[in-house]
Amino acid sequence: MYKTAITEMFGIKYPIICGAMMWLCKPTLCAAVSNAGGMGNLTAGNYETADAFRDAIRETRKLTDKPFMVNITLLPSVRITPEHHKMYVKICAEERVAGIEFSGTPLDKAAGMESVDLLKKSGRQNVS
Ligand SMILES: Cc1cc2nc3c(=O)[nH]c(=O)nc-3n(C[C@H](O)[C@H](O)[C@H](O)COP(=O)(O)O)c2cc1C
Repeated sequence: MYKTAITEMFGIKYPIICGAMMWLCKPTLCAAVSNAGGMGNLTAGNYETADAFRDAIRETRKLTDKPFMVNITLLPSVRITPEHHKMYVKICAEERVAGIEFSGTPLDKAAGMESVDLLKKSGRQNVS
């Protein structure tokens, strides 16, 4: 049994986190990693609408009862806009996902302090 800061923080068996992968990190792979004792990754950029993103979180929960995380890539892109970034954060807060990985830009710069505050209010720790 491994015990590290990561296993303790997320309540997972092994200190192994699946990297974010556009096109691949969807419910099936995410749940498989979590079921194997690591931290599955659901990559938000795969989903263009709030309904599709929320459905993916719920679909993952049907496939695993273990914790998993969401990646939110905050780099500017043609397809994924700042409005998407805010939408992803809001849904993660509402759905209370176990972890969120941000990449590209600090959250407050990309989506404003209100997104940081929203996550803090939803009970997330270590948000900055
Ligand atoms: C197919 C593919 C898609 C990826 N998509 C994302 C993404 O959407 N967001 C992100 O932050 N990183 C993305 N990455 C980067 C990975 O999460 C990871 O940081 C990178 O592959 C380096 O990991 P490594 O040092 O273990 O090789 C992607 C990587 C691959 C190979």
